[in-house]
Amino acid sequence: MFKTLDDMTVAGQRVLVRGDLNLPVQDGRVTDTTRIDRMLPTLRELMEKGARVVVISHFGRPKGQVVPEMSLKPVADALSQALGGTKVAFAADCIGDAAKAVVDGLADGEIALLENLRFHPGEEANDTGFAGDLAALGDIYVNDGFSVSHRAHASTEAIARLLPAAAGRNMQSELEALESALGDPKRPVLALVGGAKVSTKLAVLGNLIEKVDALVIGGGMANTFLHALGTDVGASLCEADLADTAREIMAKADSAGCEIILPSDVVIASKLEAGAPSETVMTAAVPPEKMILDIGPDSAAALSERLGSVRTLLWNGPLGAFEFPPFDAATVTVAQAAAKCTDAGEMVSVAGGGDTVAALRHAGVADSFSYISTAGGAFLEWIEGKELPGVAALRQG
Ligand code: 3PG
Repeated sequence: MFKTLDDMTVAGQRVLVRGDLNLPVQDGRVTDTTRIDRMLPTLRELMEKGARVVVISHFGRPKGQVVPEMSLKPVADALSQALGGTKVAFAADCIGDAAKAVVDGLADGEIALLENLRFHPGEEANDTGFAGDLAALGDIYVNDGFSVSHRAHASTEAIARLLPAAAGRNMQSELEALESALGDPKRPVLALVGGAKVSTKLAVLGNLIEKVDALVIGGGMANTFLHALGTDVGASLCEADLADTAREIMAKADSAGCEIILPSDVVIASKLEAGAPSETVMTAAVPPEKMILDIGPDSAAALSERLGSVRTLLWNGPLGAFEFPPFDAATVTVAQAAAKCTDAGEMVSVAGGGDTVAALRHAGVADSFSYISTAGGAFLEWIEGKELPGVAALRQG
């Protein structure tokens, strides 16, 4: 268990809120504010309760150096806008005199953002001294950045040992949603794992086969499994050297009572390009010069129907090369079927990691899922079954 905002008296206190404001920025403007929007409940609650809110975050990977292009300054403007024009003071450093002056200048209910934590090498080194410098700026620590809690850094790990620590509302909902999908889910549970490479998802597959009732393998990963079963996948992306591993995963799934579902038909083309001429064939009939770029319509229809009897869906990774229509068709069909079951109250659907959010947005169903995580790496590590250092630190608090 960990503390939440309900356990903290914050009026008049300096509350250091670790967010993940590692947002997409183009030409100095934030292009997607989802991660800010998810933090708003925490920030608003703290401000309404009279806390002096000090937001800390990293941005990009400046590797312990000051890199002006990785300044959080543009994010302060986006944060202010998201808060309806509320002034967000900005400190040009996250520790030392510059930070102290800005924090000291805050009145109850006001908010500041400090410069990129990763401009200091102590952040990624999880350095206690650097964590102490940060802790000197606050009375209470709140972690609201689930998506960075797979990193054992000073602002996610060491600091939680130096100040009274609690989870923010965003962290709380991420953990509750993930718990509902993998902790004590309503059964049957079906996991859908897509994406290009098996090699990046071995641990994910290994953990999921122990926890779920059925595992759908899509995307480029399916090719490696088909190849391992002796199917010729032509010129498709395929990690032939992982055939043994794929066979082991299938054998373990079998002993664990987890059904592995692979496509029965596929969409093939000569090149990966939007609008490339394509055809649908059975998986056993892929010509040597063609690539599999999506699962086929029969497989997508069967999967959509199957979702009708699923009570919990965990989705990570697209089923095909969705960025290049028409190879988005199966992802769109199945995502819409999942949305329908969720809207009908029959299924809990949780999605996250990498391209997944973009794929579900593309299918127009992002608002229908029970929960869409904003986390990439942290979501994957969670479904690998790992304890995340930032979450573990809160539990000890
Ligand atoms: C993310 O965007 O996934 C997090 O902010 C973590 O970023 P990192 O991979 O640079 O640690």
